[in-house]
Amino acid sequence: MKKTVLVSGGAGFIGSHVTVELIQAGYDVVVADNFSNCDRTCFEGVKRITGKEDIPLEVMDFCDMEAVKALFQKYPIDAVIHFAAYKAVGESVAQPLKYYKNNLTSFLNVLEAAQEKGSFVLFSSSATVYGEPDSVPVTEATPRKPATSPYGNTKTICEDILRDTVKASEGKLKGILLRYFNPIGAHPSALIGELPRGVPNNLVPFITQTAIGKRECLSIFGNDYPTPDGTCLRDYIDIVDLAKAHVFAVSRMVEGKMKQDCEVFNVGTGRPVSVLELVNAFEKVNGVKLNYKFAPRRAGDVTAIWADPTLANTEMGWKATRTVEETLKAAWAWEKHLAGK
Ligand code: UFG
Repeated sequence: MKKTVLVSGGAGFIGSHVTVELIQAGYDVVVADNFSNCDRTCFEGVKRITGKEDIPLEVMDFCDMEAVKALFQKYPIDAVIHFAAYKAVGESVAQPLKYYKNNLTSFLNVLEAAQEKGSFVLFSSSATVYGEPDSVPVTEATPRKPATSPYGNTKTICEDILRDTVKASEGKLKGILLRYFNPIGAHPSALIGELPRGVPNNLVPFITQTAIGKRECLSIFGNDYPTPDGTCLRDYIDIVDLAKAHVFAVSRMVEGKMKQDCEVFNVGTGRPVSVLELVNAFEKVNGVKLNYKFAPRRAGDVTAIWADPTLANTEMGWKATRTVEETLKAAWAWEKHLAGK
């Protein structure tokens, strides 16, 4: 029988790509979103890519417990993937209560409902939990560091909440934590991608918006880091590769392949790329010249972090396959699609 997966925040950047991959892998998917930080563009794109017009969509807020309960009663949810959260680092520093209230309440509600129904839970965590690591690459056993922003702290706290709840449930609740490195790119169809509101915080949307002429100049934050070219090193993971990791994780849960009741996997490529390398690769692969300048370091940035993805490779059978060049091509195609070019 087909399994049903609830994707909270399923109309957003990561959620929409995950929905596509789940549907293509044969799952029934219920998308739930309050559209607080996205519009209908990606949900419509998901329907076009999958050719599935009748994907259930529930417009709701996961902070509303009654609505969450009703959702779990309406559908036979085997697993839930929780994305519904605020994600702007800077805003979280300015408005911590907004972040703690929303990101923790929604996750607590999901967990309570999932526990009652016996659904598996997959939480979208982040490499941010490692802070500035003492050595790289980081494995799942690398100690976590205190978060440098309330946003990052909500990831750390939600990891702990899931772990504690799973432990106390004595086998009734099981979950997986996926720690994402830097998700970038767009679907190769150019029908879904990242749609940041206002000025982008993240590097790749800033690059594509500069290339298309929406932004005048990209600032590269810091060229005096102790790295080969002086700019920060990150592990940029293609959004479709990242989405596929969720399919592996869900099948691991619903097909009874988990080895522990709460498992953690890094989702990265294992390949460090500097900001400057990424900028150069974007220019080269897309044949565009990018207006950029070096600017002071951005507060809170870590110098270098990349994943050791061995555990996800060997245990889940998932591996990142797309090159940075392919990913940057897709990101540019999406930006051009948005501009109607
Ligand atoms: N960068 C620039 N210019 C920009 C934007 C970014 O030079 O306009 C640089 C940053 O300094 C950093 C790299 O590009 O060195 C990547 O920055 P992003 O903002 O794209 O990504 P981060 O590594 O900062 O973000 C990641 C996750 C977040 C998480 C954060 C925690 O994507 O979810 O780490 O610090 F919150």
